[in-house]
Amino acid sequence: MAAISGLVPRTAGARQEAAGPLLQVADLEVDFRTARGTTHAVRGVDFSLEPGESLAILGESGSGKTVTGRGILGLVDPPGRVRGSVRFDGREIVGSSDAELREIRGPGMATVFQDSLDSLNPVFTVGAQLAEIFRVRLGWSRHDARGEAVRLMAEVGIPAAEDRLNDYPHQFSGGMRQRICIAMAIALKPQLLIADEPTTALDATVQAGILELIRRLQVEHDMALIFVTHDLASPVRWPTGSP
Ligand SMILES: Nc1ncnc2c1ncn2[C@@H]1O[C@H](COP(=O)(O)OP(=O)(O)OP(=O)(O)O)[C@@H](O)[C@H]1O
Ligand SMILES: [Mg+2]
Repeated sequence: MAAISGLVPRTAGARQEAAGPLLQVADLEVDFRTARGTTHAVRGVDFSLEPGESLAILGESGSGKTVTGRGILGLVDPPGRVRGSVRFDGREIVGSSDAELREIRGPGMATVFQDSLDSLNPVFTVGAQLAEIFRVRLGWSRHDARGEAVRLMAEVGIPAAEDRLNDYPHQFSGGMRQRICIAMAIALKPQLLIADEPTTALDATVQAGILELIRRLQVEHDMALIFVTHDLASPVRWPTGSP
C-alpha cells in the first residue's frame, strides 16, 4: 500500500481544534482472527492529514485499503481487532463507543463505497433516504428535509431532482446512484470524506464525471479526502486546477 498526498486550496474551516492535523493515524493495525487463522490485514499504517488535504491510498487487491478506511471510521466489526491510534479532530476513534462514533460520523467523517447498490436501501425512495438524514440527525421537519434533499440531489448533478425524489435506487443508472451516495455522504458537511474505489464499478466515461464531482465538492465544501484505489492511473487522472 502506498500513499500520495496533496494540498488543495482551503477556505475557512469550522474545526473544534485549532491546532494539529485533522486526522492522525499512528501504528494502525487490524487483525482478523478466524477459525482458519489470523489475517494481519493492516500493519503499521502511519499518516496525518490536514484539513482540506487529499490523500490517495493505492494498493493491490487484498492489501488492506478498505480495512484501513473502516479502521479510521471505527467500522471494523468482530472478529476484527484494531490497535494503534486514530485521532480525528482531537478525538480518539480506536476504542470509542458506538454512540461516540455515531456523533463523529456524518458531520465529521463520511464515506462513499464502491458499489452504490450496497449503500442504498432498495425499498425506500432516494428522497426518503436523503430526507431521513436531516430528520433523524438534525430533527428537521418533513418539508424542510425534503427541500434539502432536492437541493443536494441537484448539487451532485441529478437532472430534474424534484421529479426524481420519489424514485427508487434501481430506477437510476449506476453513475446516478453513485452521485446519490455522494449526496448522502456530504449531507452533514463532513470534514473528511473517505472514497473507497468510488468509480470501480462504473464505465470509463461515467468515472471521469464522478471524479470531477468529488473534486468539486472537496473544494466547495472544504473537505479533506482519502481516495482509495487499486488503479495506479487514478491519481494521474485526478482533475487538477479549479473545478
Ligand atoms: N470481516 C473480515 N473477516 C476476515 N478477514 C477480512 C475481513 N475483512 C477483510 N478481511 C481480510 O483483510 C485483508 C484486507 O482486505 P481489504 O478488503 O482491506 O483489501 P483491499 O485492499 O480493500 O482490496 P480490494 O482492492 O480488493 O478492495 C484481506 O486479506 C481480507 O480477506
Ligand atoms: Mg477494498
